[in-house]
Amino acid sequence: MELHLYYAIILLGAVAAVFKLILYPAFFSPLAKIPNAHWSCSFSPIWIFWMKWTKQENSRIYKLHLEKGPAVRLGPDLVSVNCYEDGLKKIYHGGFPKPEFYFNGFAVYGTDNLFTIKDNQTHAAHKKALASCFSKSSVMSSQTARSASRDILFNRVLPLIHNASIENKPIEVMDLTYAYLLDTFVQWQFGRSIASNLVEDEKERRFYLDGFLAVAEYTFWQYHFPRLVTMFQKIGIYIIPKRVLAAFEGVEKWNLEKCDQAQQLLASGKDLAVDDQPVAFEPALKGMSEVQGKPKMYANRLSLASDMFSLNSGAFETSGNTSTYLLYELSRHPEWQTKLREELLGLSPSLKHEPGKIVEVDDITNPQDIDKLPILHAVLMETLRLWPSVPGAQPRVVPRPCTLGGYHNIPAGTTVQAYASVLHRMPHVFLEPEKWKPERWLDSTPEQLALMRKWFWGFGSGGRMCLGIHFAYYSIKYFFGSVYSNFTTTIHDHGDMEASDGYLAGPKGHRLELQFHRLE
Ligand code: HEM
Ligand SMILES: *[C@@H]1O[C@H](CO)[C@@H](O)[C@H](O)[C@H]1NC(C)=O
Ligand SMILES: *[C@@H]1O[C@H](CO)[C@@H](O)[C@H](O)[C@H]1NC(C)=O
Ligand SMILES: *[C@@H]1O[C@H](CO)[C@@H](O)[C@H](O)[C@H]1NC(C)=O
Ligand SMILES: *[C@@H]1O[C@H](CO)[C@@H](O)[C@H](O)[C@H]1NC(C)=O
Repeated sequence: MELHLYYAIILLGAVAAVFKLILYPAFFSPLAKIPNAHWSCSFSPIWIFWMKWTKQENSRIYKLHLEKGPAVRLGPDLVSVNCYEDGLKKIYHGGFPKPEFYFNGFAVYGTDNLFTIKDNQTHAAHKKALASCFSKSSVMSSQTARSASRDILFNRVLPLIHNASIENKPIEVMDLTYAYLLDTFVQWQFGRSIASNLVEDEKERRFYLDGFLAVAEYTFWQYHFPRLVTMFQKIGIYIIPKRVLAAFEGVEKWNLEKCDQAQQLLASGKDLAVDDQPVAFEPALKGMSEVQGKPKMYANRLSLASDMFSLNSGAFETSGNTSTYLLYELSRHPEWQTKLREELLGLSPSLKHEPGKIVEVDDITNPQDIDKLPILHAVLMETLRLWPSVPGAQPRVVPRPCTLGGYHNIPAGTTVQAYASVLHRMPHVFLEPEKWKPERWLDSTPEQLALMRKWFWGFGSGGRMCLGIHFAYYSIKYFFGSVYSNFTTTIHDHGDMEASDGYLAGPKGHRLELQFHRLE
């Protein structure tokens, strides 16, 4: 008798497990109505991990959406969404929280930052401290940003390009744009006395870029199996090699030292010249020291440093990959260089740079005038569309049952995500989506333009949209405006320019060498 009861319990347990793990997700869950990417997606995440591991996620999911419509199920609790009303708007403007993925991939010093924070309220507090200095009007009128442009662009980058053009030497522009963008951002963030000089200091450049970029190869493990990585480390097995970890820690230390220096500078009570003001650090520091009844925004110096790290690393790599592709496209399309130059010649004062001349901040063209140039804007938009540096999934967690992509009752806890690389290539929005065609941003009808702007997602959207968008436009447009006021470019040589497939992306070969030709 007792033995029979024992068997009955086991049988019941097995039936329940089969129901819960296979039958329910495959047939009864509201997600079962959504087309599967692969039959196994109903009950196993293996397919999506395989896509990520073999680096074909973005391109496969693009094809799946073309075939199967606005929603595709990628795993038992994972759905890709590709539409606006029942999709982007609801998820990203509705403030759906972020999942663990962001912490796994982008937390530093073991602590959260603006990019990784999951819940709404903590995020809102961090963002509040920084929103004002990152607003368009602040960036455009910032004297500290302009003196950073003078120092780095006019006194370092352009002379370097000028010399190379005289000597007929090609320049590798991917690292050069990384260096230019990091130096410019860091000088605005921490002030001139704490700035970096990756453009001229080869040693600092290699230390920072090699240290920062070497982990990119291991993101699969870091993003999805961080506990496995640390568990193995404890028994002496390094999935991410020790030297790679150590080099990255070097970069973390570099940033922490800058934070400490800026804190000391502000504590000294000295009157700071406008060039020296730590524009992004100062308002954040207030959130660490503000007591008087209010809870502190930052628990300690590491949580503040983590935010600063998310800013400067977020700044240079995305903008650098974008700039590299824009240099590539312009070099392949001389007719657009000509159009751009004609437009730039209309600027007053012009962005022409005279070698050896000391450039005063007041001599530089107003960034607002550069921002308004239609052709410069169109070539940049088209590059952000075709070569988005964040092409991959931006996952969020469903907070309460909702309808997405026409499918009802998507349960709370489901992870839902959209892809810029898919949205940006929908043929009914962007005709001939595979082609780099800046004219689509200039000649389209107002209706078509409005549609394109709705589907353009290079910076994400909603409450977690890119904080640095205006700084990105500012620094990228200054660079392209002044370079093409003085030079034309042709391609000398390059590595594989195809974009890598993943959450982030840039040229796989990591090398673009251009020849700069002086304009007389
Ligand atoms: C072309 C340049 C850039 C591109 C394409 C870009 C793209 C993006 C995207 C798509 C997101 C949302 C990611 C997600 O939710 O998964 C994001 C967030 C963010 N970006 Fe950018 N970005 C750029 C430049 C910058 C710059 C210059 C900064 C400077 C600080 C910056 C700082 C941030 C921060 C802090 C967030 C997180 C915002 C939040 O969660 O509230 N980005 N960016
Ligand atoms: C997060 O905040 C937004 C407003 O910014 C709100 O609409 C949304 O409901 C909030 N989400 C959660 C999960 O609390
Ligand atoms: C460019 O060349 C001049 C003259 O040879 C030299 O003085 C200057 O340091 C060089 N500048 C850079 C940035 O290489
Ligand atoms: C930029 O152009 C102006 C005028 O066309 C010229 O005088 C100047 O030498 C150029 N600057 C560089 C760095 O080539
Ligand atoms: C930039 O491009 C490189 C590949 O060349 C890639 O490894 C990296 O993740 C990209 N970064 C961003 C922020 O897109």
